[in-house]
Amino acid sequence: MCGIVGYVGDKKAQDFLISGLKRLEYRGYDSAGIVTVSEKGKATLIRAKGKIAELEKKLAKNKRDDNVGIGHTRWATHGEPSEKNAHPHQAGSIYLVHNGIIENYKELKAELKEHDFKSETDTEVLAALINSFYKDGKHPLVNAVVQALKLVKGTYGIAVVSVLEPSELVVARSGSPLVIGVGNNETLVASDASALVGHTKRAIYLNDGEVALLTKNSIEIKTLNAEPVSAKVEEIETNLAAIQKGGYDHFLLKEIMEQPDSLRETLRGRVNAENGTVRLGGPGLSEAELRKIKHLIIVGCGTAYHAGLLAGYYIEKFTPEITIETVIASEYRYRDAYIPKDSVALIVSQSGETADTLACLREIKKQGIPTIGIVNAIGSTIAREVDGGTYVHVGPEISVASTKAFTSQVIAMVMFGLTIAQAKGVKSSILTPYIKEIAGLPEEIRKVLDGSVETVKKIAKDYAKYDHAIYLGRDVAYPAAMEGALKLKEVSYTDANAYAFGELKHGPLALVDDRFFEVALVPDGVLLEKSVSNVQEVLARGGHMIVVTNSDEFDLPVESVVKITTSMKLFAPLLMNLVMQLLAYYITVDKGYNVDQPRNLAKSVTVE
Ligand code: M6R
Repeated sequence: MCGIVGYVGDKKAQDFLISGLKRLEYRGYDSAGIVTVSEKGKATLIRAKGKIAELEKKLAKNKRDDNVGIGHTRWATHGEPSEKNAHPHQAGSIYLVHNGIIENYKELKAELKEHDFKSETDTEVLAALINSFYKDGKHPLVNAVVQALKLVKGTYGIAVVSVLEPSELVVARSGSPLVIGVGNNETLVASDASALVGHTKRAIYLNDGEVALLTKNSIEIKTLNAEPVSAKVEEIETNLAAIQKGGYDHFLLKEIMEQPDSLRETLRGRVNAENGTVRLGGPGLSEAELRKIKHLIIVGCGTAYHAGLLAGYYIEKFTPEITIETVIASEYRYRDAYIPKDSVALIVSQSGETADTLACLREIKKQGIPTIGIVNAIGSTIAREVDGGTYVHVGPEISVASTKAFTSQVIAMVMFGLTIAQAKGVKSSILTPYIKEIAGLPEEIRKVLDGSVETVKKIAKDYAKYDHAIYLGRDVAYPAAMEGALKLKEVSYTDANAYAFGELKHGPLALVDDRFFEVALVPDGVLLEKSVSNVQEVLARGGHMIVVTNSDEFDLPVESVVKITTSMKLFAPLLMNLVMQLLAYYITVDKGYNVDQPRNLAKSVTVE
């Protein structure tokens, strides 16, 4: 979703703004812009529809040495993607960039009669509102910003500059993240710490309801009620290699292939295969509290939701007397759902900023239910607001399609389930097989990826021609199939849906024809025969099937088989998901689409 950068210091602001915006490209955007202000108070505003490359073309003719500036990548909400709707927006002497949505912009706009509106955006309304309090510099900029924000309903992360105060930046947030980078003789701002990597390792994460006045050597933070805030400087853990492609053509392939290592990071210090134990420090629940848990609510969107579904299937297999409900955050936030006592909620989010998931977290907290974050982005809003949590530690996930986060989210939640089971006194003979497989999973992932990448690449060529796909699975393979279908549809624009194998006869079987191909997950185990019968049903109707299996017994004459060789019994569906990730990747490459930034999508969905 939209990205913000800001700079005040001794260097050329334009350089940081452009490089910072490029780092935020992965979030998804459709226009971009920057403004810098010279010491003498002259502004240079450059905006362009489309990619940052378009902005750079214009920049070539407008190079400036200015030391202060702000920049933005816009993902259209109010008004089409266009140069006039791109940020920064100007009102009088000020320029503003904004992430989020001003909900009461119409009412505010009706009052701002003196401003000549040039765009269709809610952001320009906020710029005009700030300017109405600023009164051409009669009041300090920071005060004008505070007065304006007190009238605003909605969400925002903003950065403001004024030509009348050309050595400072004002930033504020409510519901949309902002990080302040603390440098030497420079202060940087970004909506995502990845833009700061390589410039500084020290960061201050602004909280909701805070506003900061920044100069190159000072950072003054206060609340909207003028209470001073003493800022905590934290270390940015990301390094440059983690946000570069590292020799791969796309971030998506890099992130798929780095899953052995990213999962190792998730497991580090938490799993002991030798003595058959799992220890998670982050949730902060005592043994007695873990023993009392009777109900788990797992909340997420998209891939995080699928991770919750899959983990739920596992946890209920080994944890007695516990019910598990995995819910879609955008639905759950408006349901009148009763949350039983002795519940714990798992809040699952790679970015830690997803608006719907965050809203559920706040709602669930209000009801006094303990909340545990399963989050990747360190210092993100969800990570800071949950009562306890387990970071998945997979490093930055740049491609819009979530892959390595999914695998680690599933395992992090299963580990949490295992800690509950341990506390409840479940026999180690039941838990040890899970713990042993989890400990061995990074190496199995490596084998499956290495062993299937070339096969999948070849197969993808045969299936890139289809516009429709059906994904099928049973038991744990069903949520895995759902995730496979989501991956294919979001990157390759193939219409893909998943069904539980048992549901085929209740409707989806009618779809099988030459317009569709089917991807069936057939794990070895007690339900193998049932899945094989379902494959037969599709085959008998002329289905174009790819079967992903670890069974030596599967011998039906389907079009394509991806056989994975693994010692894993319990987590084989998670390994099959790797094959589906590769399939989505290679089909998309064959179709020639933008792999890492699919159309219409954003990496971090910070608006509802
Ligand atoms: O950052 P989050 O995990 O909260 O994001 C949730 C979804 O937006 C995300 O998983 C989305 O579905 C991905 N694009 C899927 O690949």
